[in-house]
Amino acid sequence: MLMQTKPNLTLSREDFPTDFTWGVATSSFQIEGATHTDGRGASVWDTFCEQPGAIADGSNGSIACDHYHRYEEDLDLMARLGVNAYRFSMSWPRVQPDGRGAWNEAGFAFYERLIQGLLQRGIQVHITLNHWDMPQALQEAGGWANRETCGYFVAYALEVARRFGRYTQSLCTHNEPWVIAVLGHELGVFAPGLKSRKTAMLVSHHLLLSHGMAVKAIREAGIKLELGIVLNLSPIYPASDSEADMQKAKIDDGLNARWYLDPLCYGRYPEDVLSHLGDDAPTFSPEDMATIAQPMDFVGVNYYTRNFSSSGNPWDVNSTGNEVTDMGWEVYPEGLTELLCRLHQEYGIQCLRVTENGAAFKDEMVDGQIDDERRESYLREHIRATHDAMAQGVPVDAYFAWSLMDNFEWASGYEKRFGLIHVDYPSLKRTPKRSAKWYQQFLKA
Ligand code: FCB
Repeated sequence: MLMQTKPNLTLSREDFPTDFTWGVATSSFQIEGATHTDGRGASVWDTFCEQPGAIADGSNGSIACDHYHRYEEDLDLMARLGVNAYRFSMSWPRVQPDGRGAWNEAGFAFYERLIQGLLQRGIQVHITLNHWDMPQALQEAGGWANRETCGYFVAYALEVARRFGRYTQSLCTHNEPWVIAVLGHELGVFAPGLKSRKTAMLVSHHLLLSHGMAVKAIREAGIKLELGIVLNLSPIYPASDSEADMQKAKIDDGLNARWYLDPLCYGRYPEDVLSHLGDDAPTFSPEDMATIAQPMDFVGVNYYTRNFSSSGNPWDVNSTGNEVTDMGWEVYPEGLTELLCRLHQEYGIQCLRVTENGAAFKDEMVDGQIDDERRESYLREHIRATHDAMAQGVPVDAYFAWSLMDNFEWASGYEKRFGLIHVDYPSLKRTPKRSAKWYQQFLKA
């Protein structure tokens, strides 16, 4: 069923502040390919892709969109879209193959070319340090479950900030630590594919700690750029008003949102979640907590859908009657407004950014065109939802659509397409979809 378009007037770029940042987002492993080129080391995702059954279509990231070789074309596509910002991630094993020790100059040279290409086109640089593809060599030494990884991450963060800080608008430490911890270490459906809640919670602590350590180190080195973190957040509602469902929703929100926000904003873990975790909770010191709570210049929000918690049968995503995307995620723009308001009101966050927002749909190419009306409408409604939060006084200063182009969607492989630009994987030809043309028109206004 198609989502009803609201009867209010069409929103335009002019309804936003003139200095509002409009961008698109990608991540290294999902687009670059060239996994064995110019001295890049292996990442945990290269290894994970080799596990039989790990990736829905049995694919991997070895070619992906071949962005490593086609970045000039991709930069031109971005310039044509008219965005003023690009959020991308650096592949840690491309610039430091073992995650410690020697830097790989050829890897840094690629990012230098990319960054110069962005600046030449008047597009701001927003770098994420860790969008999940950590060096496999570090994983072999315990990965994020090993506290020493925090120190290696700081060295990497400092090196990137020293080399590129002056060209960079913002630097994000980690993308979606919950995903790395829970999907990667508790459920085992993402790299590195482990299945232990205790390990997952320790990993989450080390991700938060390394975030704080990196922010502190970059500030102490006197490098001036906006520093923050990106979280995947969704409002979580109880599936019914039964006491059991309400309790479940509260603890799920605790595990997904408060577990990250409370330490980042207040320097403490939520008590109810700690007692829920029992022996699975990580051990930590007051110093760790103080380090995590570094002041941040922004908090990035990746928003796709809302969630329901039920103590009994799993929630049926079709029961609301709203549209559901190809990922099986309900389209619910109001959730974004609610979330942004909560982050401002409950946590007092003074600079919020929508760092990812988008939808996967089955696209059909007809006569060389992709008429992805549903993606266009998804983007339009979520931009409106962002505006609704701003109209309520919430400080949001950026919106990044996910994603510039179709890419390797992790465990779903190439089967799920989120791009504004279509990628034909056999030929690697890029074709802007209707949603790209809509975004371009919106940005031109
Ligand atoms: C987010 C990830 C991003 C992309 C989208 C669909 O969780 O950060 O890489 O896969 O989901």
